[in-house]
Amino acid sequence: MKFSTVLTGALASLAAAQTPAPYTDPKSGITFNTLQQSSGFFFGLALPANDTSNTDFIATIGGKGTGWSGVSLGGGMTNKLLIVAWPNAQAAVSSFRKVANYSPPPVAAGTFAQLPIANGTYVNATHWTYTFLCSKCIQSDGTTFKASDTAAGIGFAWNANAPAQKTDPAAGVRQHTAQGIAAFDLSKAKSDKFATWKAYAAPKVASAFSR
Ligand code: HEM
Repeated sequence: MKFSTVLTGALASLAAAQTPAPYTDPKSGITFNTLQQSSGFFFGLALPANDTSNTDFIATIGGKGTGWSGVSLGGGMTNKLLIVAWPNAQAAVSSFRKVANYSPPPVAAGTFAQLPIANGTYVNATHWTYTFLCSKCIQSDGTTFKASDTAAGIGFAWNANAPAQKTDPAAGVRQHTAQGIAAFDLSKAKSDKFATWKAYAAPKVASAFSR
């Protein structure tokens, strides 16, 4: 009896930690449907309320320490659009990646772009947080979820080790020490404040900040 109570409790907390839930970033005020893991890894998604032709979303990604956090916008690792990010002092460094097999993914080029949101990008006592407008990131080639999806499988992965060349967005990262796919209820990511939040994004600038 005691054992089953403990087990049920453990399973319940595991499930709770892995189910994305609405979270409002205290600095930007943006509400994301957010997956949070006990490692400190998190990824949150914000979408416009009623727009099935939309190609943009706002994302927040982060973790504890100096390692990298990554997501797959299409669920699996291979042939999907990936995003990796890590902290570099008070800034965030990030890039798109894509690879056809389970090997270190190189930088991916395309029409997609990350436009940093400064008031949602910071390092505090516990976490680093990178928030950005992901412009033209919802693709129609099967590499990402679709704007018309009600639910999306988003892959996640992280490694607590910082990349060796951490100022370079194209730096090689070491294989994740944890990975998986989480089901995101996209209705919980939608907000009629999206246009206001989107306007926080800075125009794309040529810098080491993101690419
Ligand atoms: C750096 C070199 C990397 C290597 C060698 C690698 C290798 C692998 C391997 C072997 C698996 C299958 C694991 C299993 O089934 O047990 C896997 C899964 C996965 N990887 Fe990677 N990975 C790398 C980087 C990344 C990055 C940067 C991301 C995300 C940005 C990523 C995201 C994922 C995800 C979401 C899965 C689970 C879904 C799936 O199996 O496709 N990986 N990876």
